[in-house]
Amino acid sequence: METNSISLVYSVFIFSLLSQGSWRITEAARVFTIINDCTETIWPAIIPGESFEGGGFVLKPGQSKVITAPAAWSGRIWGRSGCNFDENGSGTCLTGSCGTSLKCGAAGKPPATLAEFTLGKLDFYDVSLVDGFNIPMAVKPLHGVGNCSIAGCDQDLRKNCPKELSVKSHGKTVACRSACDVFDTDEYCCRGLYGGPSVCHPTYYSKLFKQACPTSYSYAYDDPTSIFTCTGTDYVITFCSSRSKAACTYHNHKLICSGSMGTKSLLNGWWSFTLALLFLITLRSMY
Ligand SMILES: *[C@@H]1O[C@H](CO)[C@@H](O)[C@H](O)[C@H]1NC(C)=O
Ligand SMILES: *[C@@H]1O[C@H](CO)[C@@H](O)[C@H](O)[C@H]1NC(C)=O
Repeated sequence: METNSISLVYSVFIFSLLSQGSWRITEAARVFTIINDCTETIWPAIIPGESFEGGGFVLKPGQSKVITAPAAWSGRIWGRSGCNFDENGSGTCLTGSCGTSLKCGAAGKPPATLAEFTLGKLDFYDVSLVDGFNIPMAVKPLHGVGNCSIAGCDQDLRKNCPKELSVKSHGKTVACRSACDVFDTDEYCCRGLYGGPSVCHPTYYSKLFKQACPTSYSYAYDDPTSIFTCTGTDYVITFCSSRSKAACTYHNHKLICSGSMGTKSLLNGWWSFTLALLFLITLRSMY
């Protein structure tokens, strides 16, 4: 039993050694790493979610999940908070519910912070607060080429939500509604006389959203600083992390981090090599 698990770990290390070299699997499908950096449990929701565990799952604080999305997947990912699901995955959440199911087949109930993706030769992605805010999110592309900026938040808008927009539960702000949702005017909703990028401008409220999440959609025509394009990338989606915090994930048995890719992956190559060597030495001394 023990020998078996040791030889399994052993072969994983050998494999990781081999994969440091020129042998690389061609990437078509994309790896999404979803991380819960919050101090509370989050129930991520994904539509369409066939390749994402049926569209929903639970992540306790500090947990993460690695999922492979089909090459041409387009959809959205958001977080749900304060959920209560029974053994059959039936129940509701304080924020972000998609009906009464753990596995989402429909959009979430606003307000909810959304990460939106259109994958292709060139990926488009953004974080949107147009339907309000419930949980801080950051979308970090890894080892991509192009305008691969980090989309999302630096702050938790729940702490800074004007009271006229706030959604409360037991006296605590659990989400922040959009001004369009609350006041339903043409100005806030960018329609009628305000129906276009040249006539719909940031408002007092959208500026508060933008402050918390500088690279996200704070109102409908917030495009220039909100939508990003990137080629050949994987994504790390973190809840309750800031944009500046590095996010790391394993890909093809390599630890890859957002940020200064070049040096990190080089260092990491050596790091894995050293680890594997140490492991071999340890093995030797055991037998
Ligand atoms: C879950 O589903 C099973 C089978 O359909 C049913 O017998 C059970 O009562 C359900 N549990 C709850 C809590 O609804
Ligand atoms: C990349 O995105 C940023 C932020 O949206 C933008 O300011 C910049 O002009 C873009 N650069 C290119 C080359 O598209």
